[in-house]
Amino acid sequence: MFHGMILGRRGRAPAVCAGSPMRIRAKLSRIMAPVLNGFPVLRALARPIFVYTDLVRHTVAPLLPQIIQPDPTEIYVTLTANCNLRCVGCRYGRDFMPGAQLSWPVVRDLLDDCQKFGIKNIRLYGGEPLLHRDLLRIVEHCSHLGLHSWLSTNGILLKDKIDDLYRAGLRRISIGYYGTGDAYNAYVQRTDRYHQLEAGVAYTRERFGMDVSMTLGWVLMRPTCSIEEVRSTWRFAEKYRTPIGVSLIHYSLPYFTEGPDRELQFTPEDRPAIESVVAEIIRLKSIRPELIQQSVLALRSIPDWLIKGPDMKVPCDRYRLIWIGADGTVQLCYVTFKLGNLHETRLADLLFTSEHRKASRDAFALRCPNCHCSYHNRIERHLASRIRYHNGIESDDQREASAPSQSHPSPTEEPVGPVFPKNSGASLSERPGS
Ligand SMILES: C[S@@+](CC[C@H](N)C(=O)[O-])C[C@H]1O[C@@H](n2cnc3c(N)ncnc32)[C@H](O)[C@@H]1O
Ligand code: SF4
Ligand code: SF4
Repeated sequence: MFHGMILGRRGRAPAVCAGSPMRIRAKLSRIMAPVLNGFPVLRALARPIFVYTDLVRHTVAPLLPQIIQPDPTEIYVTLTANCNLRCVGCRYGRDFMPGAQLSWPVVRDLLDDCQKFGIKNIRLYGGEPLLHRDLLRIVEHCSHLGLHSWLSTNGILLKDKIDDLYRAGLRRISIGYYGTGDAYNAYVQRTDRYHQLEAGVAYTRERFGMDVSMTLGWVLMRPTCSIEEVRSTWRFAEKYRTPIGVSLIHYSLPYFTEGPDRELQFTPEDRPAIESVVAEIIRLKSIRPELIQQSVLALRSIPDWLIKGPDMKVPCDRYRLIWIGADGTVQLCYVTFKLGNLHETRLADLLFTSEHRKASRDAFALRCPNCHCSYHNRIERHLASRIRYHNGIESDDQREASAPSQSHPSPTEEPVGPVFPKNSGASLSERPGS
């Protein structure tokens, strides 16, 4: 079925019952967000309430699987598979869905459906989303619908595009950060691009101050696993006030690769190096907590995620996500659980179906390739992991409550996306994810 044939279904009422977790959470967020966004300390104190609610749900779920229901709070939209870089660990711009792009009518209908279902956080990414010719009107449409757009970009074209995007309502940006200086240029396989990235960040900060939230999606992989690399990323983050979200090199996302001869990927012999890098990140976080997005608890779990891979059994919370591919694919997460395709079916008709409910429960139970997406959220919501990684350190919740306001976005990550600027109205239950 083609897109035009299903437009008649637009008015269909969302298939969500009034007392569903999604409705309750959405209502709570709507009431509390305006209040808490004005009071960062209160907001930091409120976040643990959402984490603990999930902790209880995740603890009960193995005995009562029905308690896990689809609850999409954010959607990741791959606007284009094209890219202007050639990162060693990525296939976009080359052999993953080559040339595929979402058209404006498809994205417009998608956003309309998101609004209907209360999916407020819209991650616009790719590939490189700044290459999409309709990006401006997509951001404008998000603003018009009261949705929070969040752009994930390599930042190379940021300087040219940010003025228009700001006017369209964009306030949140995360930037893929793959090394500093020449190491970055080597990884993206292009000469002299690092200074373009830096120029874009510097310009945005200078022009819009903290009105635009910018974070770094720093990828921890073998080439970046050193104290020097951590410190140079930290200096960048301090200079431009761009908190660092620690992403972990993937092993199962179809659009990433582990490099020739798996040169980006870790082996058990790398554990000591990973542990010292993590210790350094935790040390830096103790100096300026707001510049590292993950909690200490989550950071302490990183060596296990990187060395154990799929043997790391921590329930997945991606029943909160919907992923859209550049070819229109609709999935529960980036890796698996296909629900349909936007070129055949509207999003509205793919949500809260029996298939969506089953995918949510299967994701939670790790009946999937089990990646480390959303590792920080998963660790915080898993009782056994909380016990394992806490080990006598100051409680993360205490730490977060006493930290300055930018340390934690209101609520979703992989990591982690950007922090939510004041008055963004972002939902309380979410924190951006990978
Ligand atoms: C796929 S990129 C797309 C957006 C944009 N082109 C960029 O590079 O930021 C989105 C995020 O994926 C993360 N990422 C990139 N390569 C990765 C890899 N091999 N493993 C894990 N995460 C990765 C980065 O943190 C980046 O922010
Ligand atoms: S990680 Fe981002 S910038 Fe690098 S090739 Fe992939 S899509 Fe392009
Ligand atoms: S753990 Fe499984 S369900 Fe969760 S994001 Fe990874 S592949 Fe998807």
